[in-house]
Amino acid sequence: MHEFLLQLPKVELHLHIEGSLEPELMFELAKRNGIELPYATVKEAKAAYEFSDLQGFLNLYYQGMNVLRTEQDFYDLAIDYFQRARGEGVVHIDMHFDPQAHLQRGIPLEVVMAGLLRAKEEAEASLDLSVGMIMAFLRDRPVEEALRVLENAAPYWKFIDAIGLDSAERDNPPAKFQALFKRAKEIGLVRVAHAGEEGPADYIAEALDILDVQRIDHGVRCLESDIVVERLRESQIVLTVCPLSNVSLKVVDDLRNHPLPQLLKKGLKVTISSDDPAYFGGGLLANHLACADALGWDADVFRLLNRNAIEEAFTSDQRRKELM
Ligand code: ADE
Ligand code: ZN
Repeated sequence: MHEFLLQLPKVELHLHIEGSLEPELMFELAKRNGIELPYATVKEAKAAYEFSDLQGFLNLYYQGMNVLRTEQDFYDLAIDYFQRARGEGVVHIDMHFDPQAHLQRGIPLEVVMAGLLRAKEEAEASLDLSVGMIMAFLRDRPVEEALRVLENAAPYWKFIDAIGLDSAERDNPPAKFQALFKRAKEIGLVRVAHAGEEGPADYIAEALDILDVQRIDHGVRCLESDIVVERLRESQIVLTVCPLSNVSLKVVDDLRNHPLPQLLKKGLKVTISSDDPAYFGGGLLANHLACADALGWDADVFRLLNRNAIEEAFTSDQRRKELM
């Protein structure tokens, strides 16, 4: 099974590129930019990656990305992940990135975009890896700020496939971002949102009703509402479930008790992704291997999950055909 999963062409719909920053590269960039890290060694950094909830992780995630300063840093971040993922048999990645987390630190959007877009171009030209771009907005910051960032990003609208909504979910309901998502729709941008990771099933319904999203990131807590499950089943809205992330952030206590089998049994359109691979114990292959071991899935389950991901990936019809 492990060899099959390595060889299987895999598609990842939910990946925060800043969450792919491995401690080794963090140290390299810290040295290059003259930044002092709160860790003495790579080993110490890795030892700190023990989380009790989403907020505990987000604190280290925002701290870690402080080493990203120049266009070259963003390029190195992304190409490092793309190369690793390709080596694990990944053929397409839809990548979230967090402009506000960089703007807050004084890093202009142009720097972020130039580095990420250069890495995407290179991946598509020489790695046979296609990349979708999701400009994500931080739900624990004001909607007015998000609207300003979206307007200022006008020169880049043509390069992004969707807008997303991430960061601390509790007490930051989708409805807070109604104006942002309305504006994105006017512009013609596809919309996705994290919902039902730590937040309640109601947030999934809100994201569908108020934000008009085409994809729900995580969504595992839908199982707390039969009505929400039925809506997801009927509409076949895709869920980008992140198994190792859910274990790391204590959304589930053990992978063997993950709700994935129930989601599949209910007939939902499920996919699996790595979310923040540098922090949660590995990339897309590691997530596949862990599910095979913990849930006992056979090859057909993984083929189904990847077929779902191919159907929903932000890519051209021609590339989709190649991937099928
Ligand atoms: N930003 C990066 N990873 C995230 C996650 N798992 N949930 C919400 N926001 C995030
Ligand atoms: Zn996420």
